[in-house]
Amino acid sequence: MTAEYQVKGAVAVITLNNPPVNGLGFATRSAVVAAMQTALNDDAIKAIVITGAGKAFSGGADIKEFNSPMALMEPSLHTVINMVENSTKPVIAAIHTVCMGGGLELALGCNYRVAAPGAQIALPEVKLGILPGAGGTQRLPRVLGLEMALNMIVSGTPVLSEKLVQTALFDALIDGDLMQGALAFANQVADVRPLPKVRDLKIDYPNYEAFLQFSRNTVKAMAGPFPAPLKCVEAVAAAVTKKFDDGMKFERSLFIELVQTTESKALRHAFFAERIAGKVPDVPADTPTRAIVTAAVIGAGTMGGGIAMNFANAGIPVKILEMKQEALDKGLATIRKNYENTMKKGKLTPEKCEQRIGLISGTLAYEDIAPADIVVEAVFEDMGVKEAVFKKLDEVMKQGAILASNTSTLDVDKIASFTKRPQDVIGTHFFSPANVMKLLEIVRGAKTGKDVLATTLALAKKLKKTGVVSGVCDGFIGNRMIEQYSRQAGFLLEEGCLPEQVDQAVEKFGFAMGPFRMADLAGNDIGWHIRKRRYIDKPEVTYSKTADLLCEMGRFGQKTGAGWYDYKAGDRKAYPAQVVNDMIVKHSAELRVERRKISDQEIVERLVYALVNEGAYILDEGIAMRASDIDMVYLTGYGFPLFRGGPMFYADTVGLLNVSMAMEKYAKGRNGSAWKPAPLLVKLAAEGKTFNG
Ligand code: 3HC
Ligand code: NAI
Repeated sequence: MTAEYQVKGAVAVITLNNPPVNGLGFATRSAVVAAMQTALNDDAIKAIVITGAGKAFSGGADIKEFNSPMALMEPSLHTVINMVENSTKPVIAAIHTVCMGGGLELALGCNYRVAAPGAQIALPEVKLGILPGAGGTQRLPRVLGLEMALNMIVSGTPVLSEKLVQTALFDALIDGDLMQGALAFANQVADVRPLPKVRDLKIDYPNYEAFLQFSRNTVKAMAGPFPAPLKCVEAVAAAVTKKFDDGMKFERSLFIELVQTTESKALRHAFFAERIAGKVPDVPADTPTRAIVTAAVIGAGTMGGGIAMNFANAGIPVKILEMKQEALDKGLATIRKNYENTMKKGKLTPEKCEQRIGLISGTLAYEDIAPADIVVEAVFEDMGVKEAVFKKLDEVMKQGAILASNTSTLDVDKIASFTKRPQDVIGTHFFSPANVMKLLEIVRGAKTGKDVLATTLALAKKLKKTGVVSGVCDGFIGNRMIEQYSRQAGFLLEEGCLPEQVDQAVEKFGFAMGPFRMADLAGNDIGWHIRKRRYIDKPEVTYSKTADLLCEMGRFGQKTGAGWYDYKAGDRKAYPAQVVNDMIVKHSAELRVERRKISDQEIVERLVYALVNEGAYILDEGIAMRASDIDMVYLTGYGFPLFRGGPMFYADTVGLLNVSMAMEKYAKGRNGSAWKPAPLLVKLAAEGKTFNG
């Protein structure tokens, strides 16, 4: 049964029981209707309590059903909520842990709501590119007021139950046993008539027109091409401007419109992609994991410091090892400064700030890190340096310790071979800034133990990262793909673009940052070193030398105050640099290229399809387990627009045949040799299939 029915004296208790989060799928909705009928038909029952089993009241509508006819099958969520709202006996929602989306909408249809402290209350539909479609936009403003409800609906951010206890959302906050409290409450209100209904409440906001207009303007500016947030505002506006039933109809029409958008499909794809990424078919969920109680990091540079902060943020004490006291002091000082800045922004209390700093210590001696359960190496990207470090780690680290490397491109199997325990070696590729970026590429070596992989996946969760597993290859999933994207960006400069045109086109598509602004942020010298290493014995690989010429000018990016753009001290804004644009045009002339006007569409297609094509090779070679893993890498590590679902999902929405035809066209142009359509892409396109099944 997906909902249980119990009788406790004169109170019927309906417990949603659809693990993991009591999603309100067809079976659960049907079970609630049946249970309600039983309660209504039983004269001995005076009141009804609805609650949820396990770790949620309810996480809302069953998102898995959205693409199936089940979502539309009666009883719909509307029917369930109407039945509850029209009940002749009082219905009380007993809320705990998670009450989201349709779950909160169901609770709002009840006559009363009692909650345990700490419950996360949200209408997060906007994060799935939709809006609350079962009355949330009409009922929440009636209990929370216009402003607070609008904020919650447009942001989708959860609010803790105790913070809402003063509002009409909750009738009581129950410390201690929720069910006992809910039963006592139910008995108390059993005979109270008339039954209170949220739909009957008035929204008191005299100046609502001005507020709604202000909200429309702000949301429009922030949401860009993503449609859901503005529709949320319109639906909430209807709660004030229309009668309840008309508002409900309006909400429904907007919901139906949004649920069919590509943006919503992309966000739903991303939701499940994130959750499936942590699952590895040959590493079952019950694979034993190793305890990670203490950690060590080698190297206190850009990455080492950020990685150490991740451990400290998760409450894991961490020691950083450096070669020289000076480098160690500098690294520790940077960490302190980062924490203090977060504290100054009000995001960390002074106590927590000191607590976290206190979990991080430094050392110059390997013996001090020997007892750590995991060590993450973040030294220079040089195989010789990595070799020396891993040989030493093999010598000193306790047996069973996980030996991880943060290398961004090097062969993890080779690194493992420097030790006598390759089963304990794994790649943990954090992204910069490591304490901020969500992505953790977990590089599974040929000999990496299953328990080591399972432990690292669990660790990613603990560090609040999205762990995505990659096989071993140069650049793994993310950087291997970005190489093709960067190559196309370089070619575009040779053929007629300037950096700002490329960046603007890509940012208009929705990327957080275009390739040249991103390169200036990451440091142009990093790519320069990688190209030198990569292409030295690959003369057949063509690439634009423009980026090398830029580096020869000493323009390494923001850190040197000059890169593809000029920067002013203390300002991250990119200003077009005439000297760079002149260099680009001159280089085209040297290559005897007649520069041409290139459309934004061509820019976006060449960059994004370059990612897609390399992604298809990566998928075919088994470097990535699934197309959705590649999407996750790009959504969480490279600023790919979330509402486009990642490069592989985006290609699916464009149609693989269209993608492959565009590649054929570009293959005939200048620098066309860079386009070698991946056999998997060609095959799927010919079969009319998609990457994501
Ligand atoms: N429908 C179907 N499955 C869901 C789900 C939902 N609403 N919410 C979570 N799940 C599944 C996940 O896919 C995952 O499945 P898996 O174990 O097979 O991978 C499992 O539940 C656990 O999810 P998490 O790993 O995310 O668990 P957490 O404990 O970290 O988080 C949560 C729980 C806060 C509920 C989080 O899952 C979440 O935010 N869920 C989405 C909530 C949401 O967006 N609700 C609105 C749905 S749309 C709606 O209600 C429309 C209505 O207005 C008409
Ligand atoms: P960095 O140059 O900022 O820091 C490296 C640190 O390692 C320096 O402080 C140096 O003193 C120390 N070090 C060098 N050899 C050592 C040794 N033998 N023992 C102890 N300490 C030693 O380098 P960064 O950027 O932090 O990169 C580190 C690793 O992370 C590299 O493998 C890099 O490819 C990878 N990486 C870098 C990213 C970035 O954006 N910077 C992103 C993802 C991975």
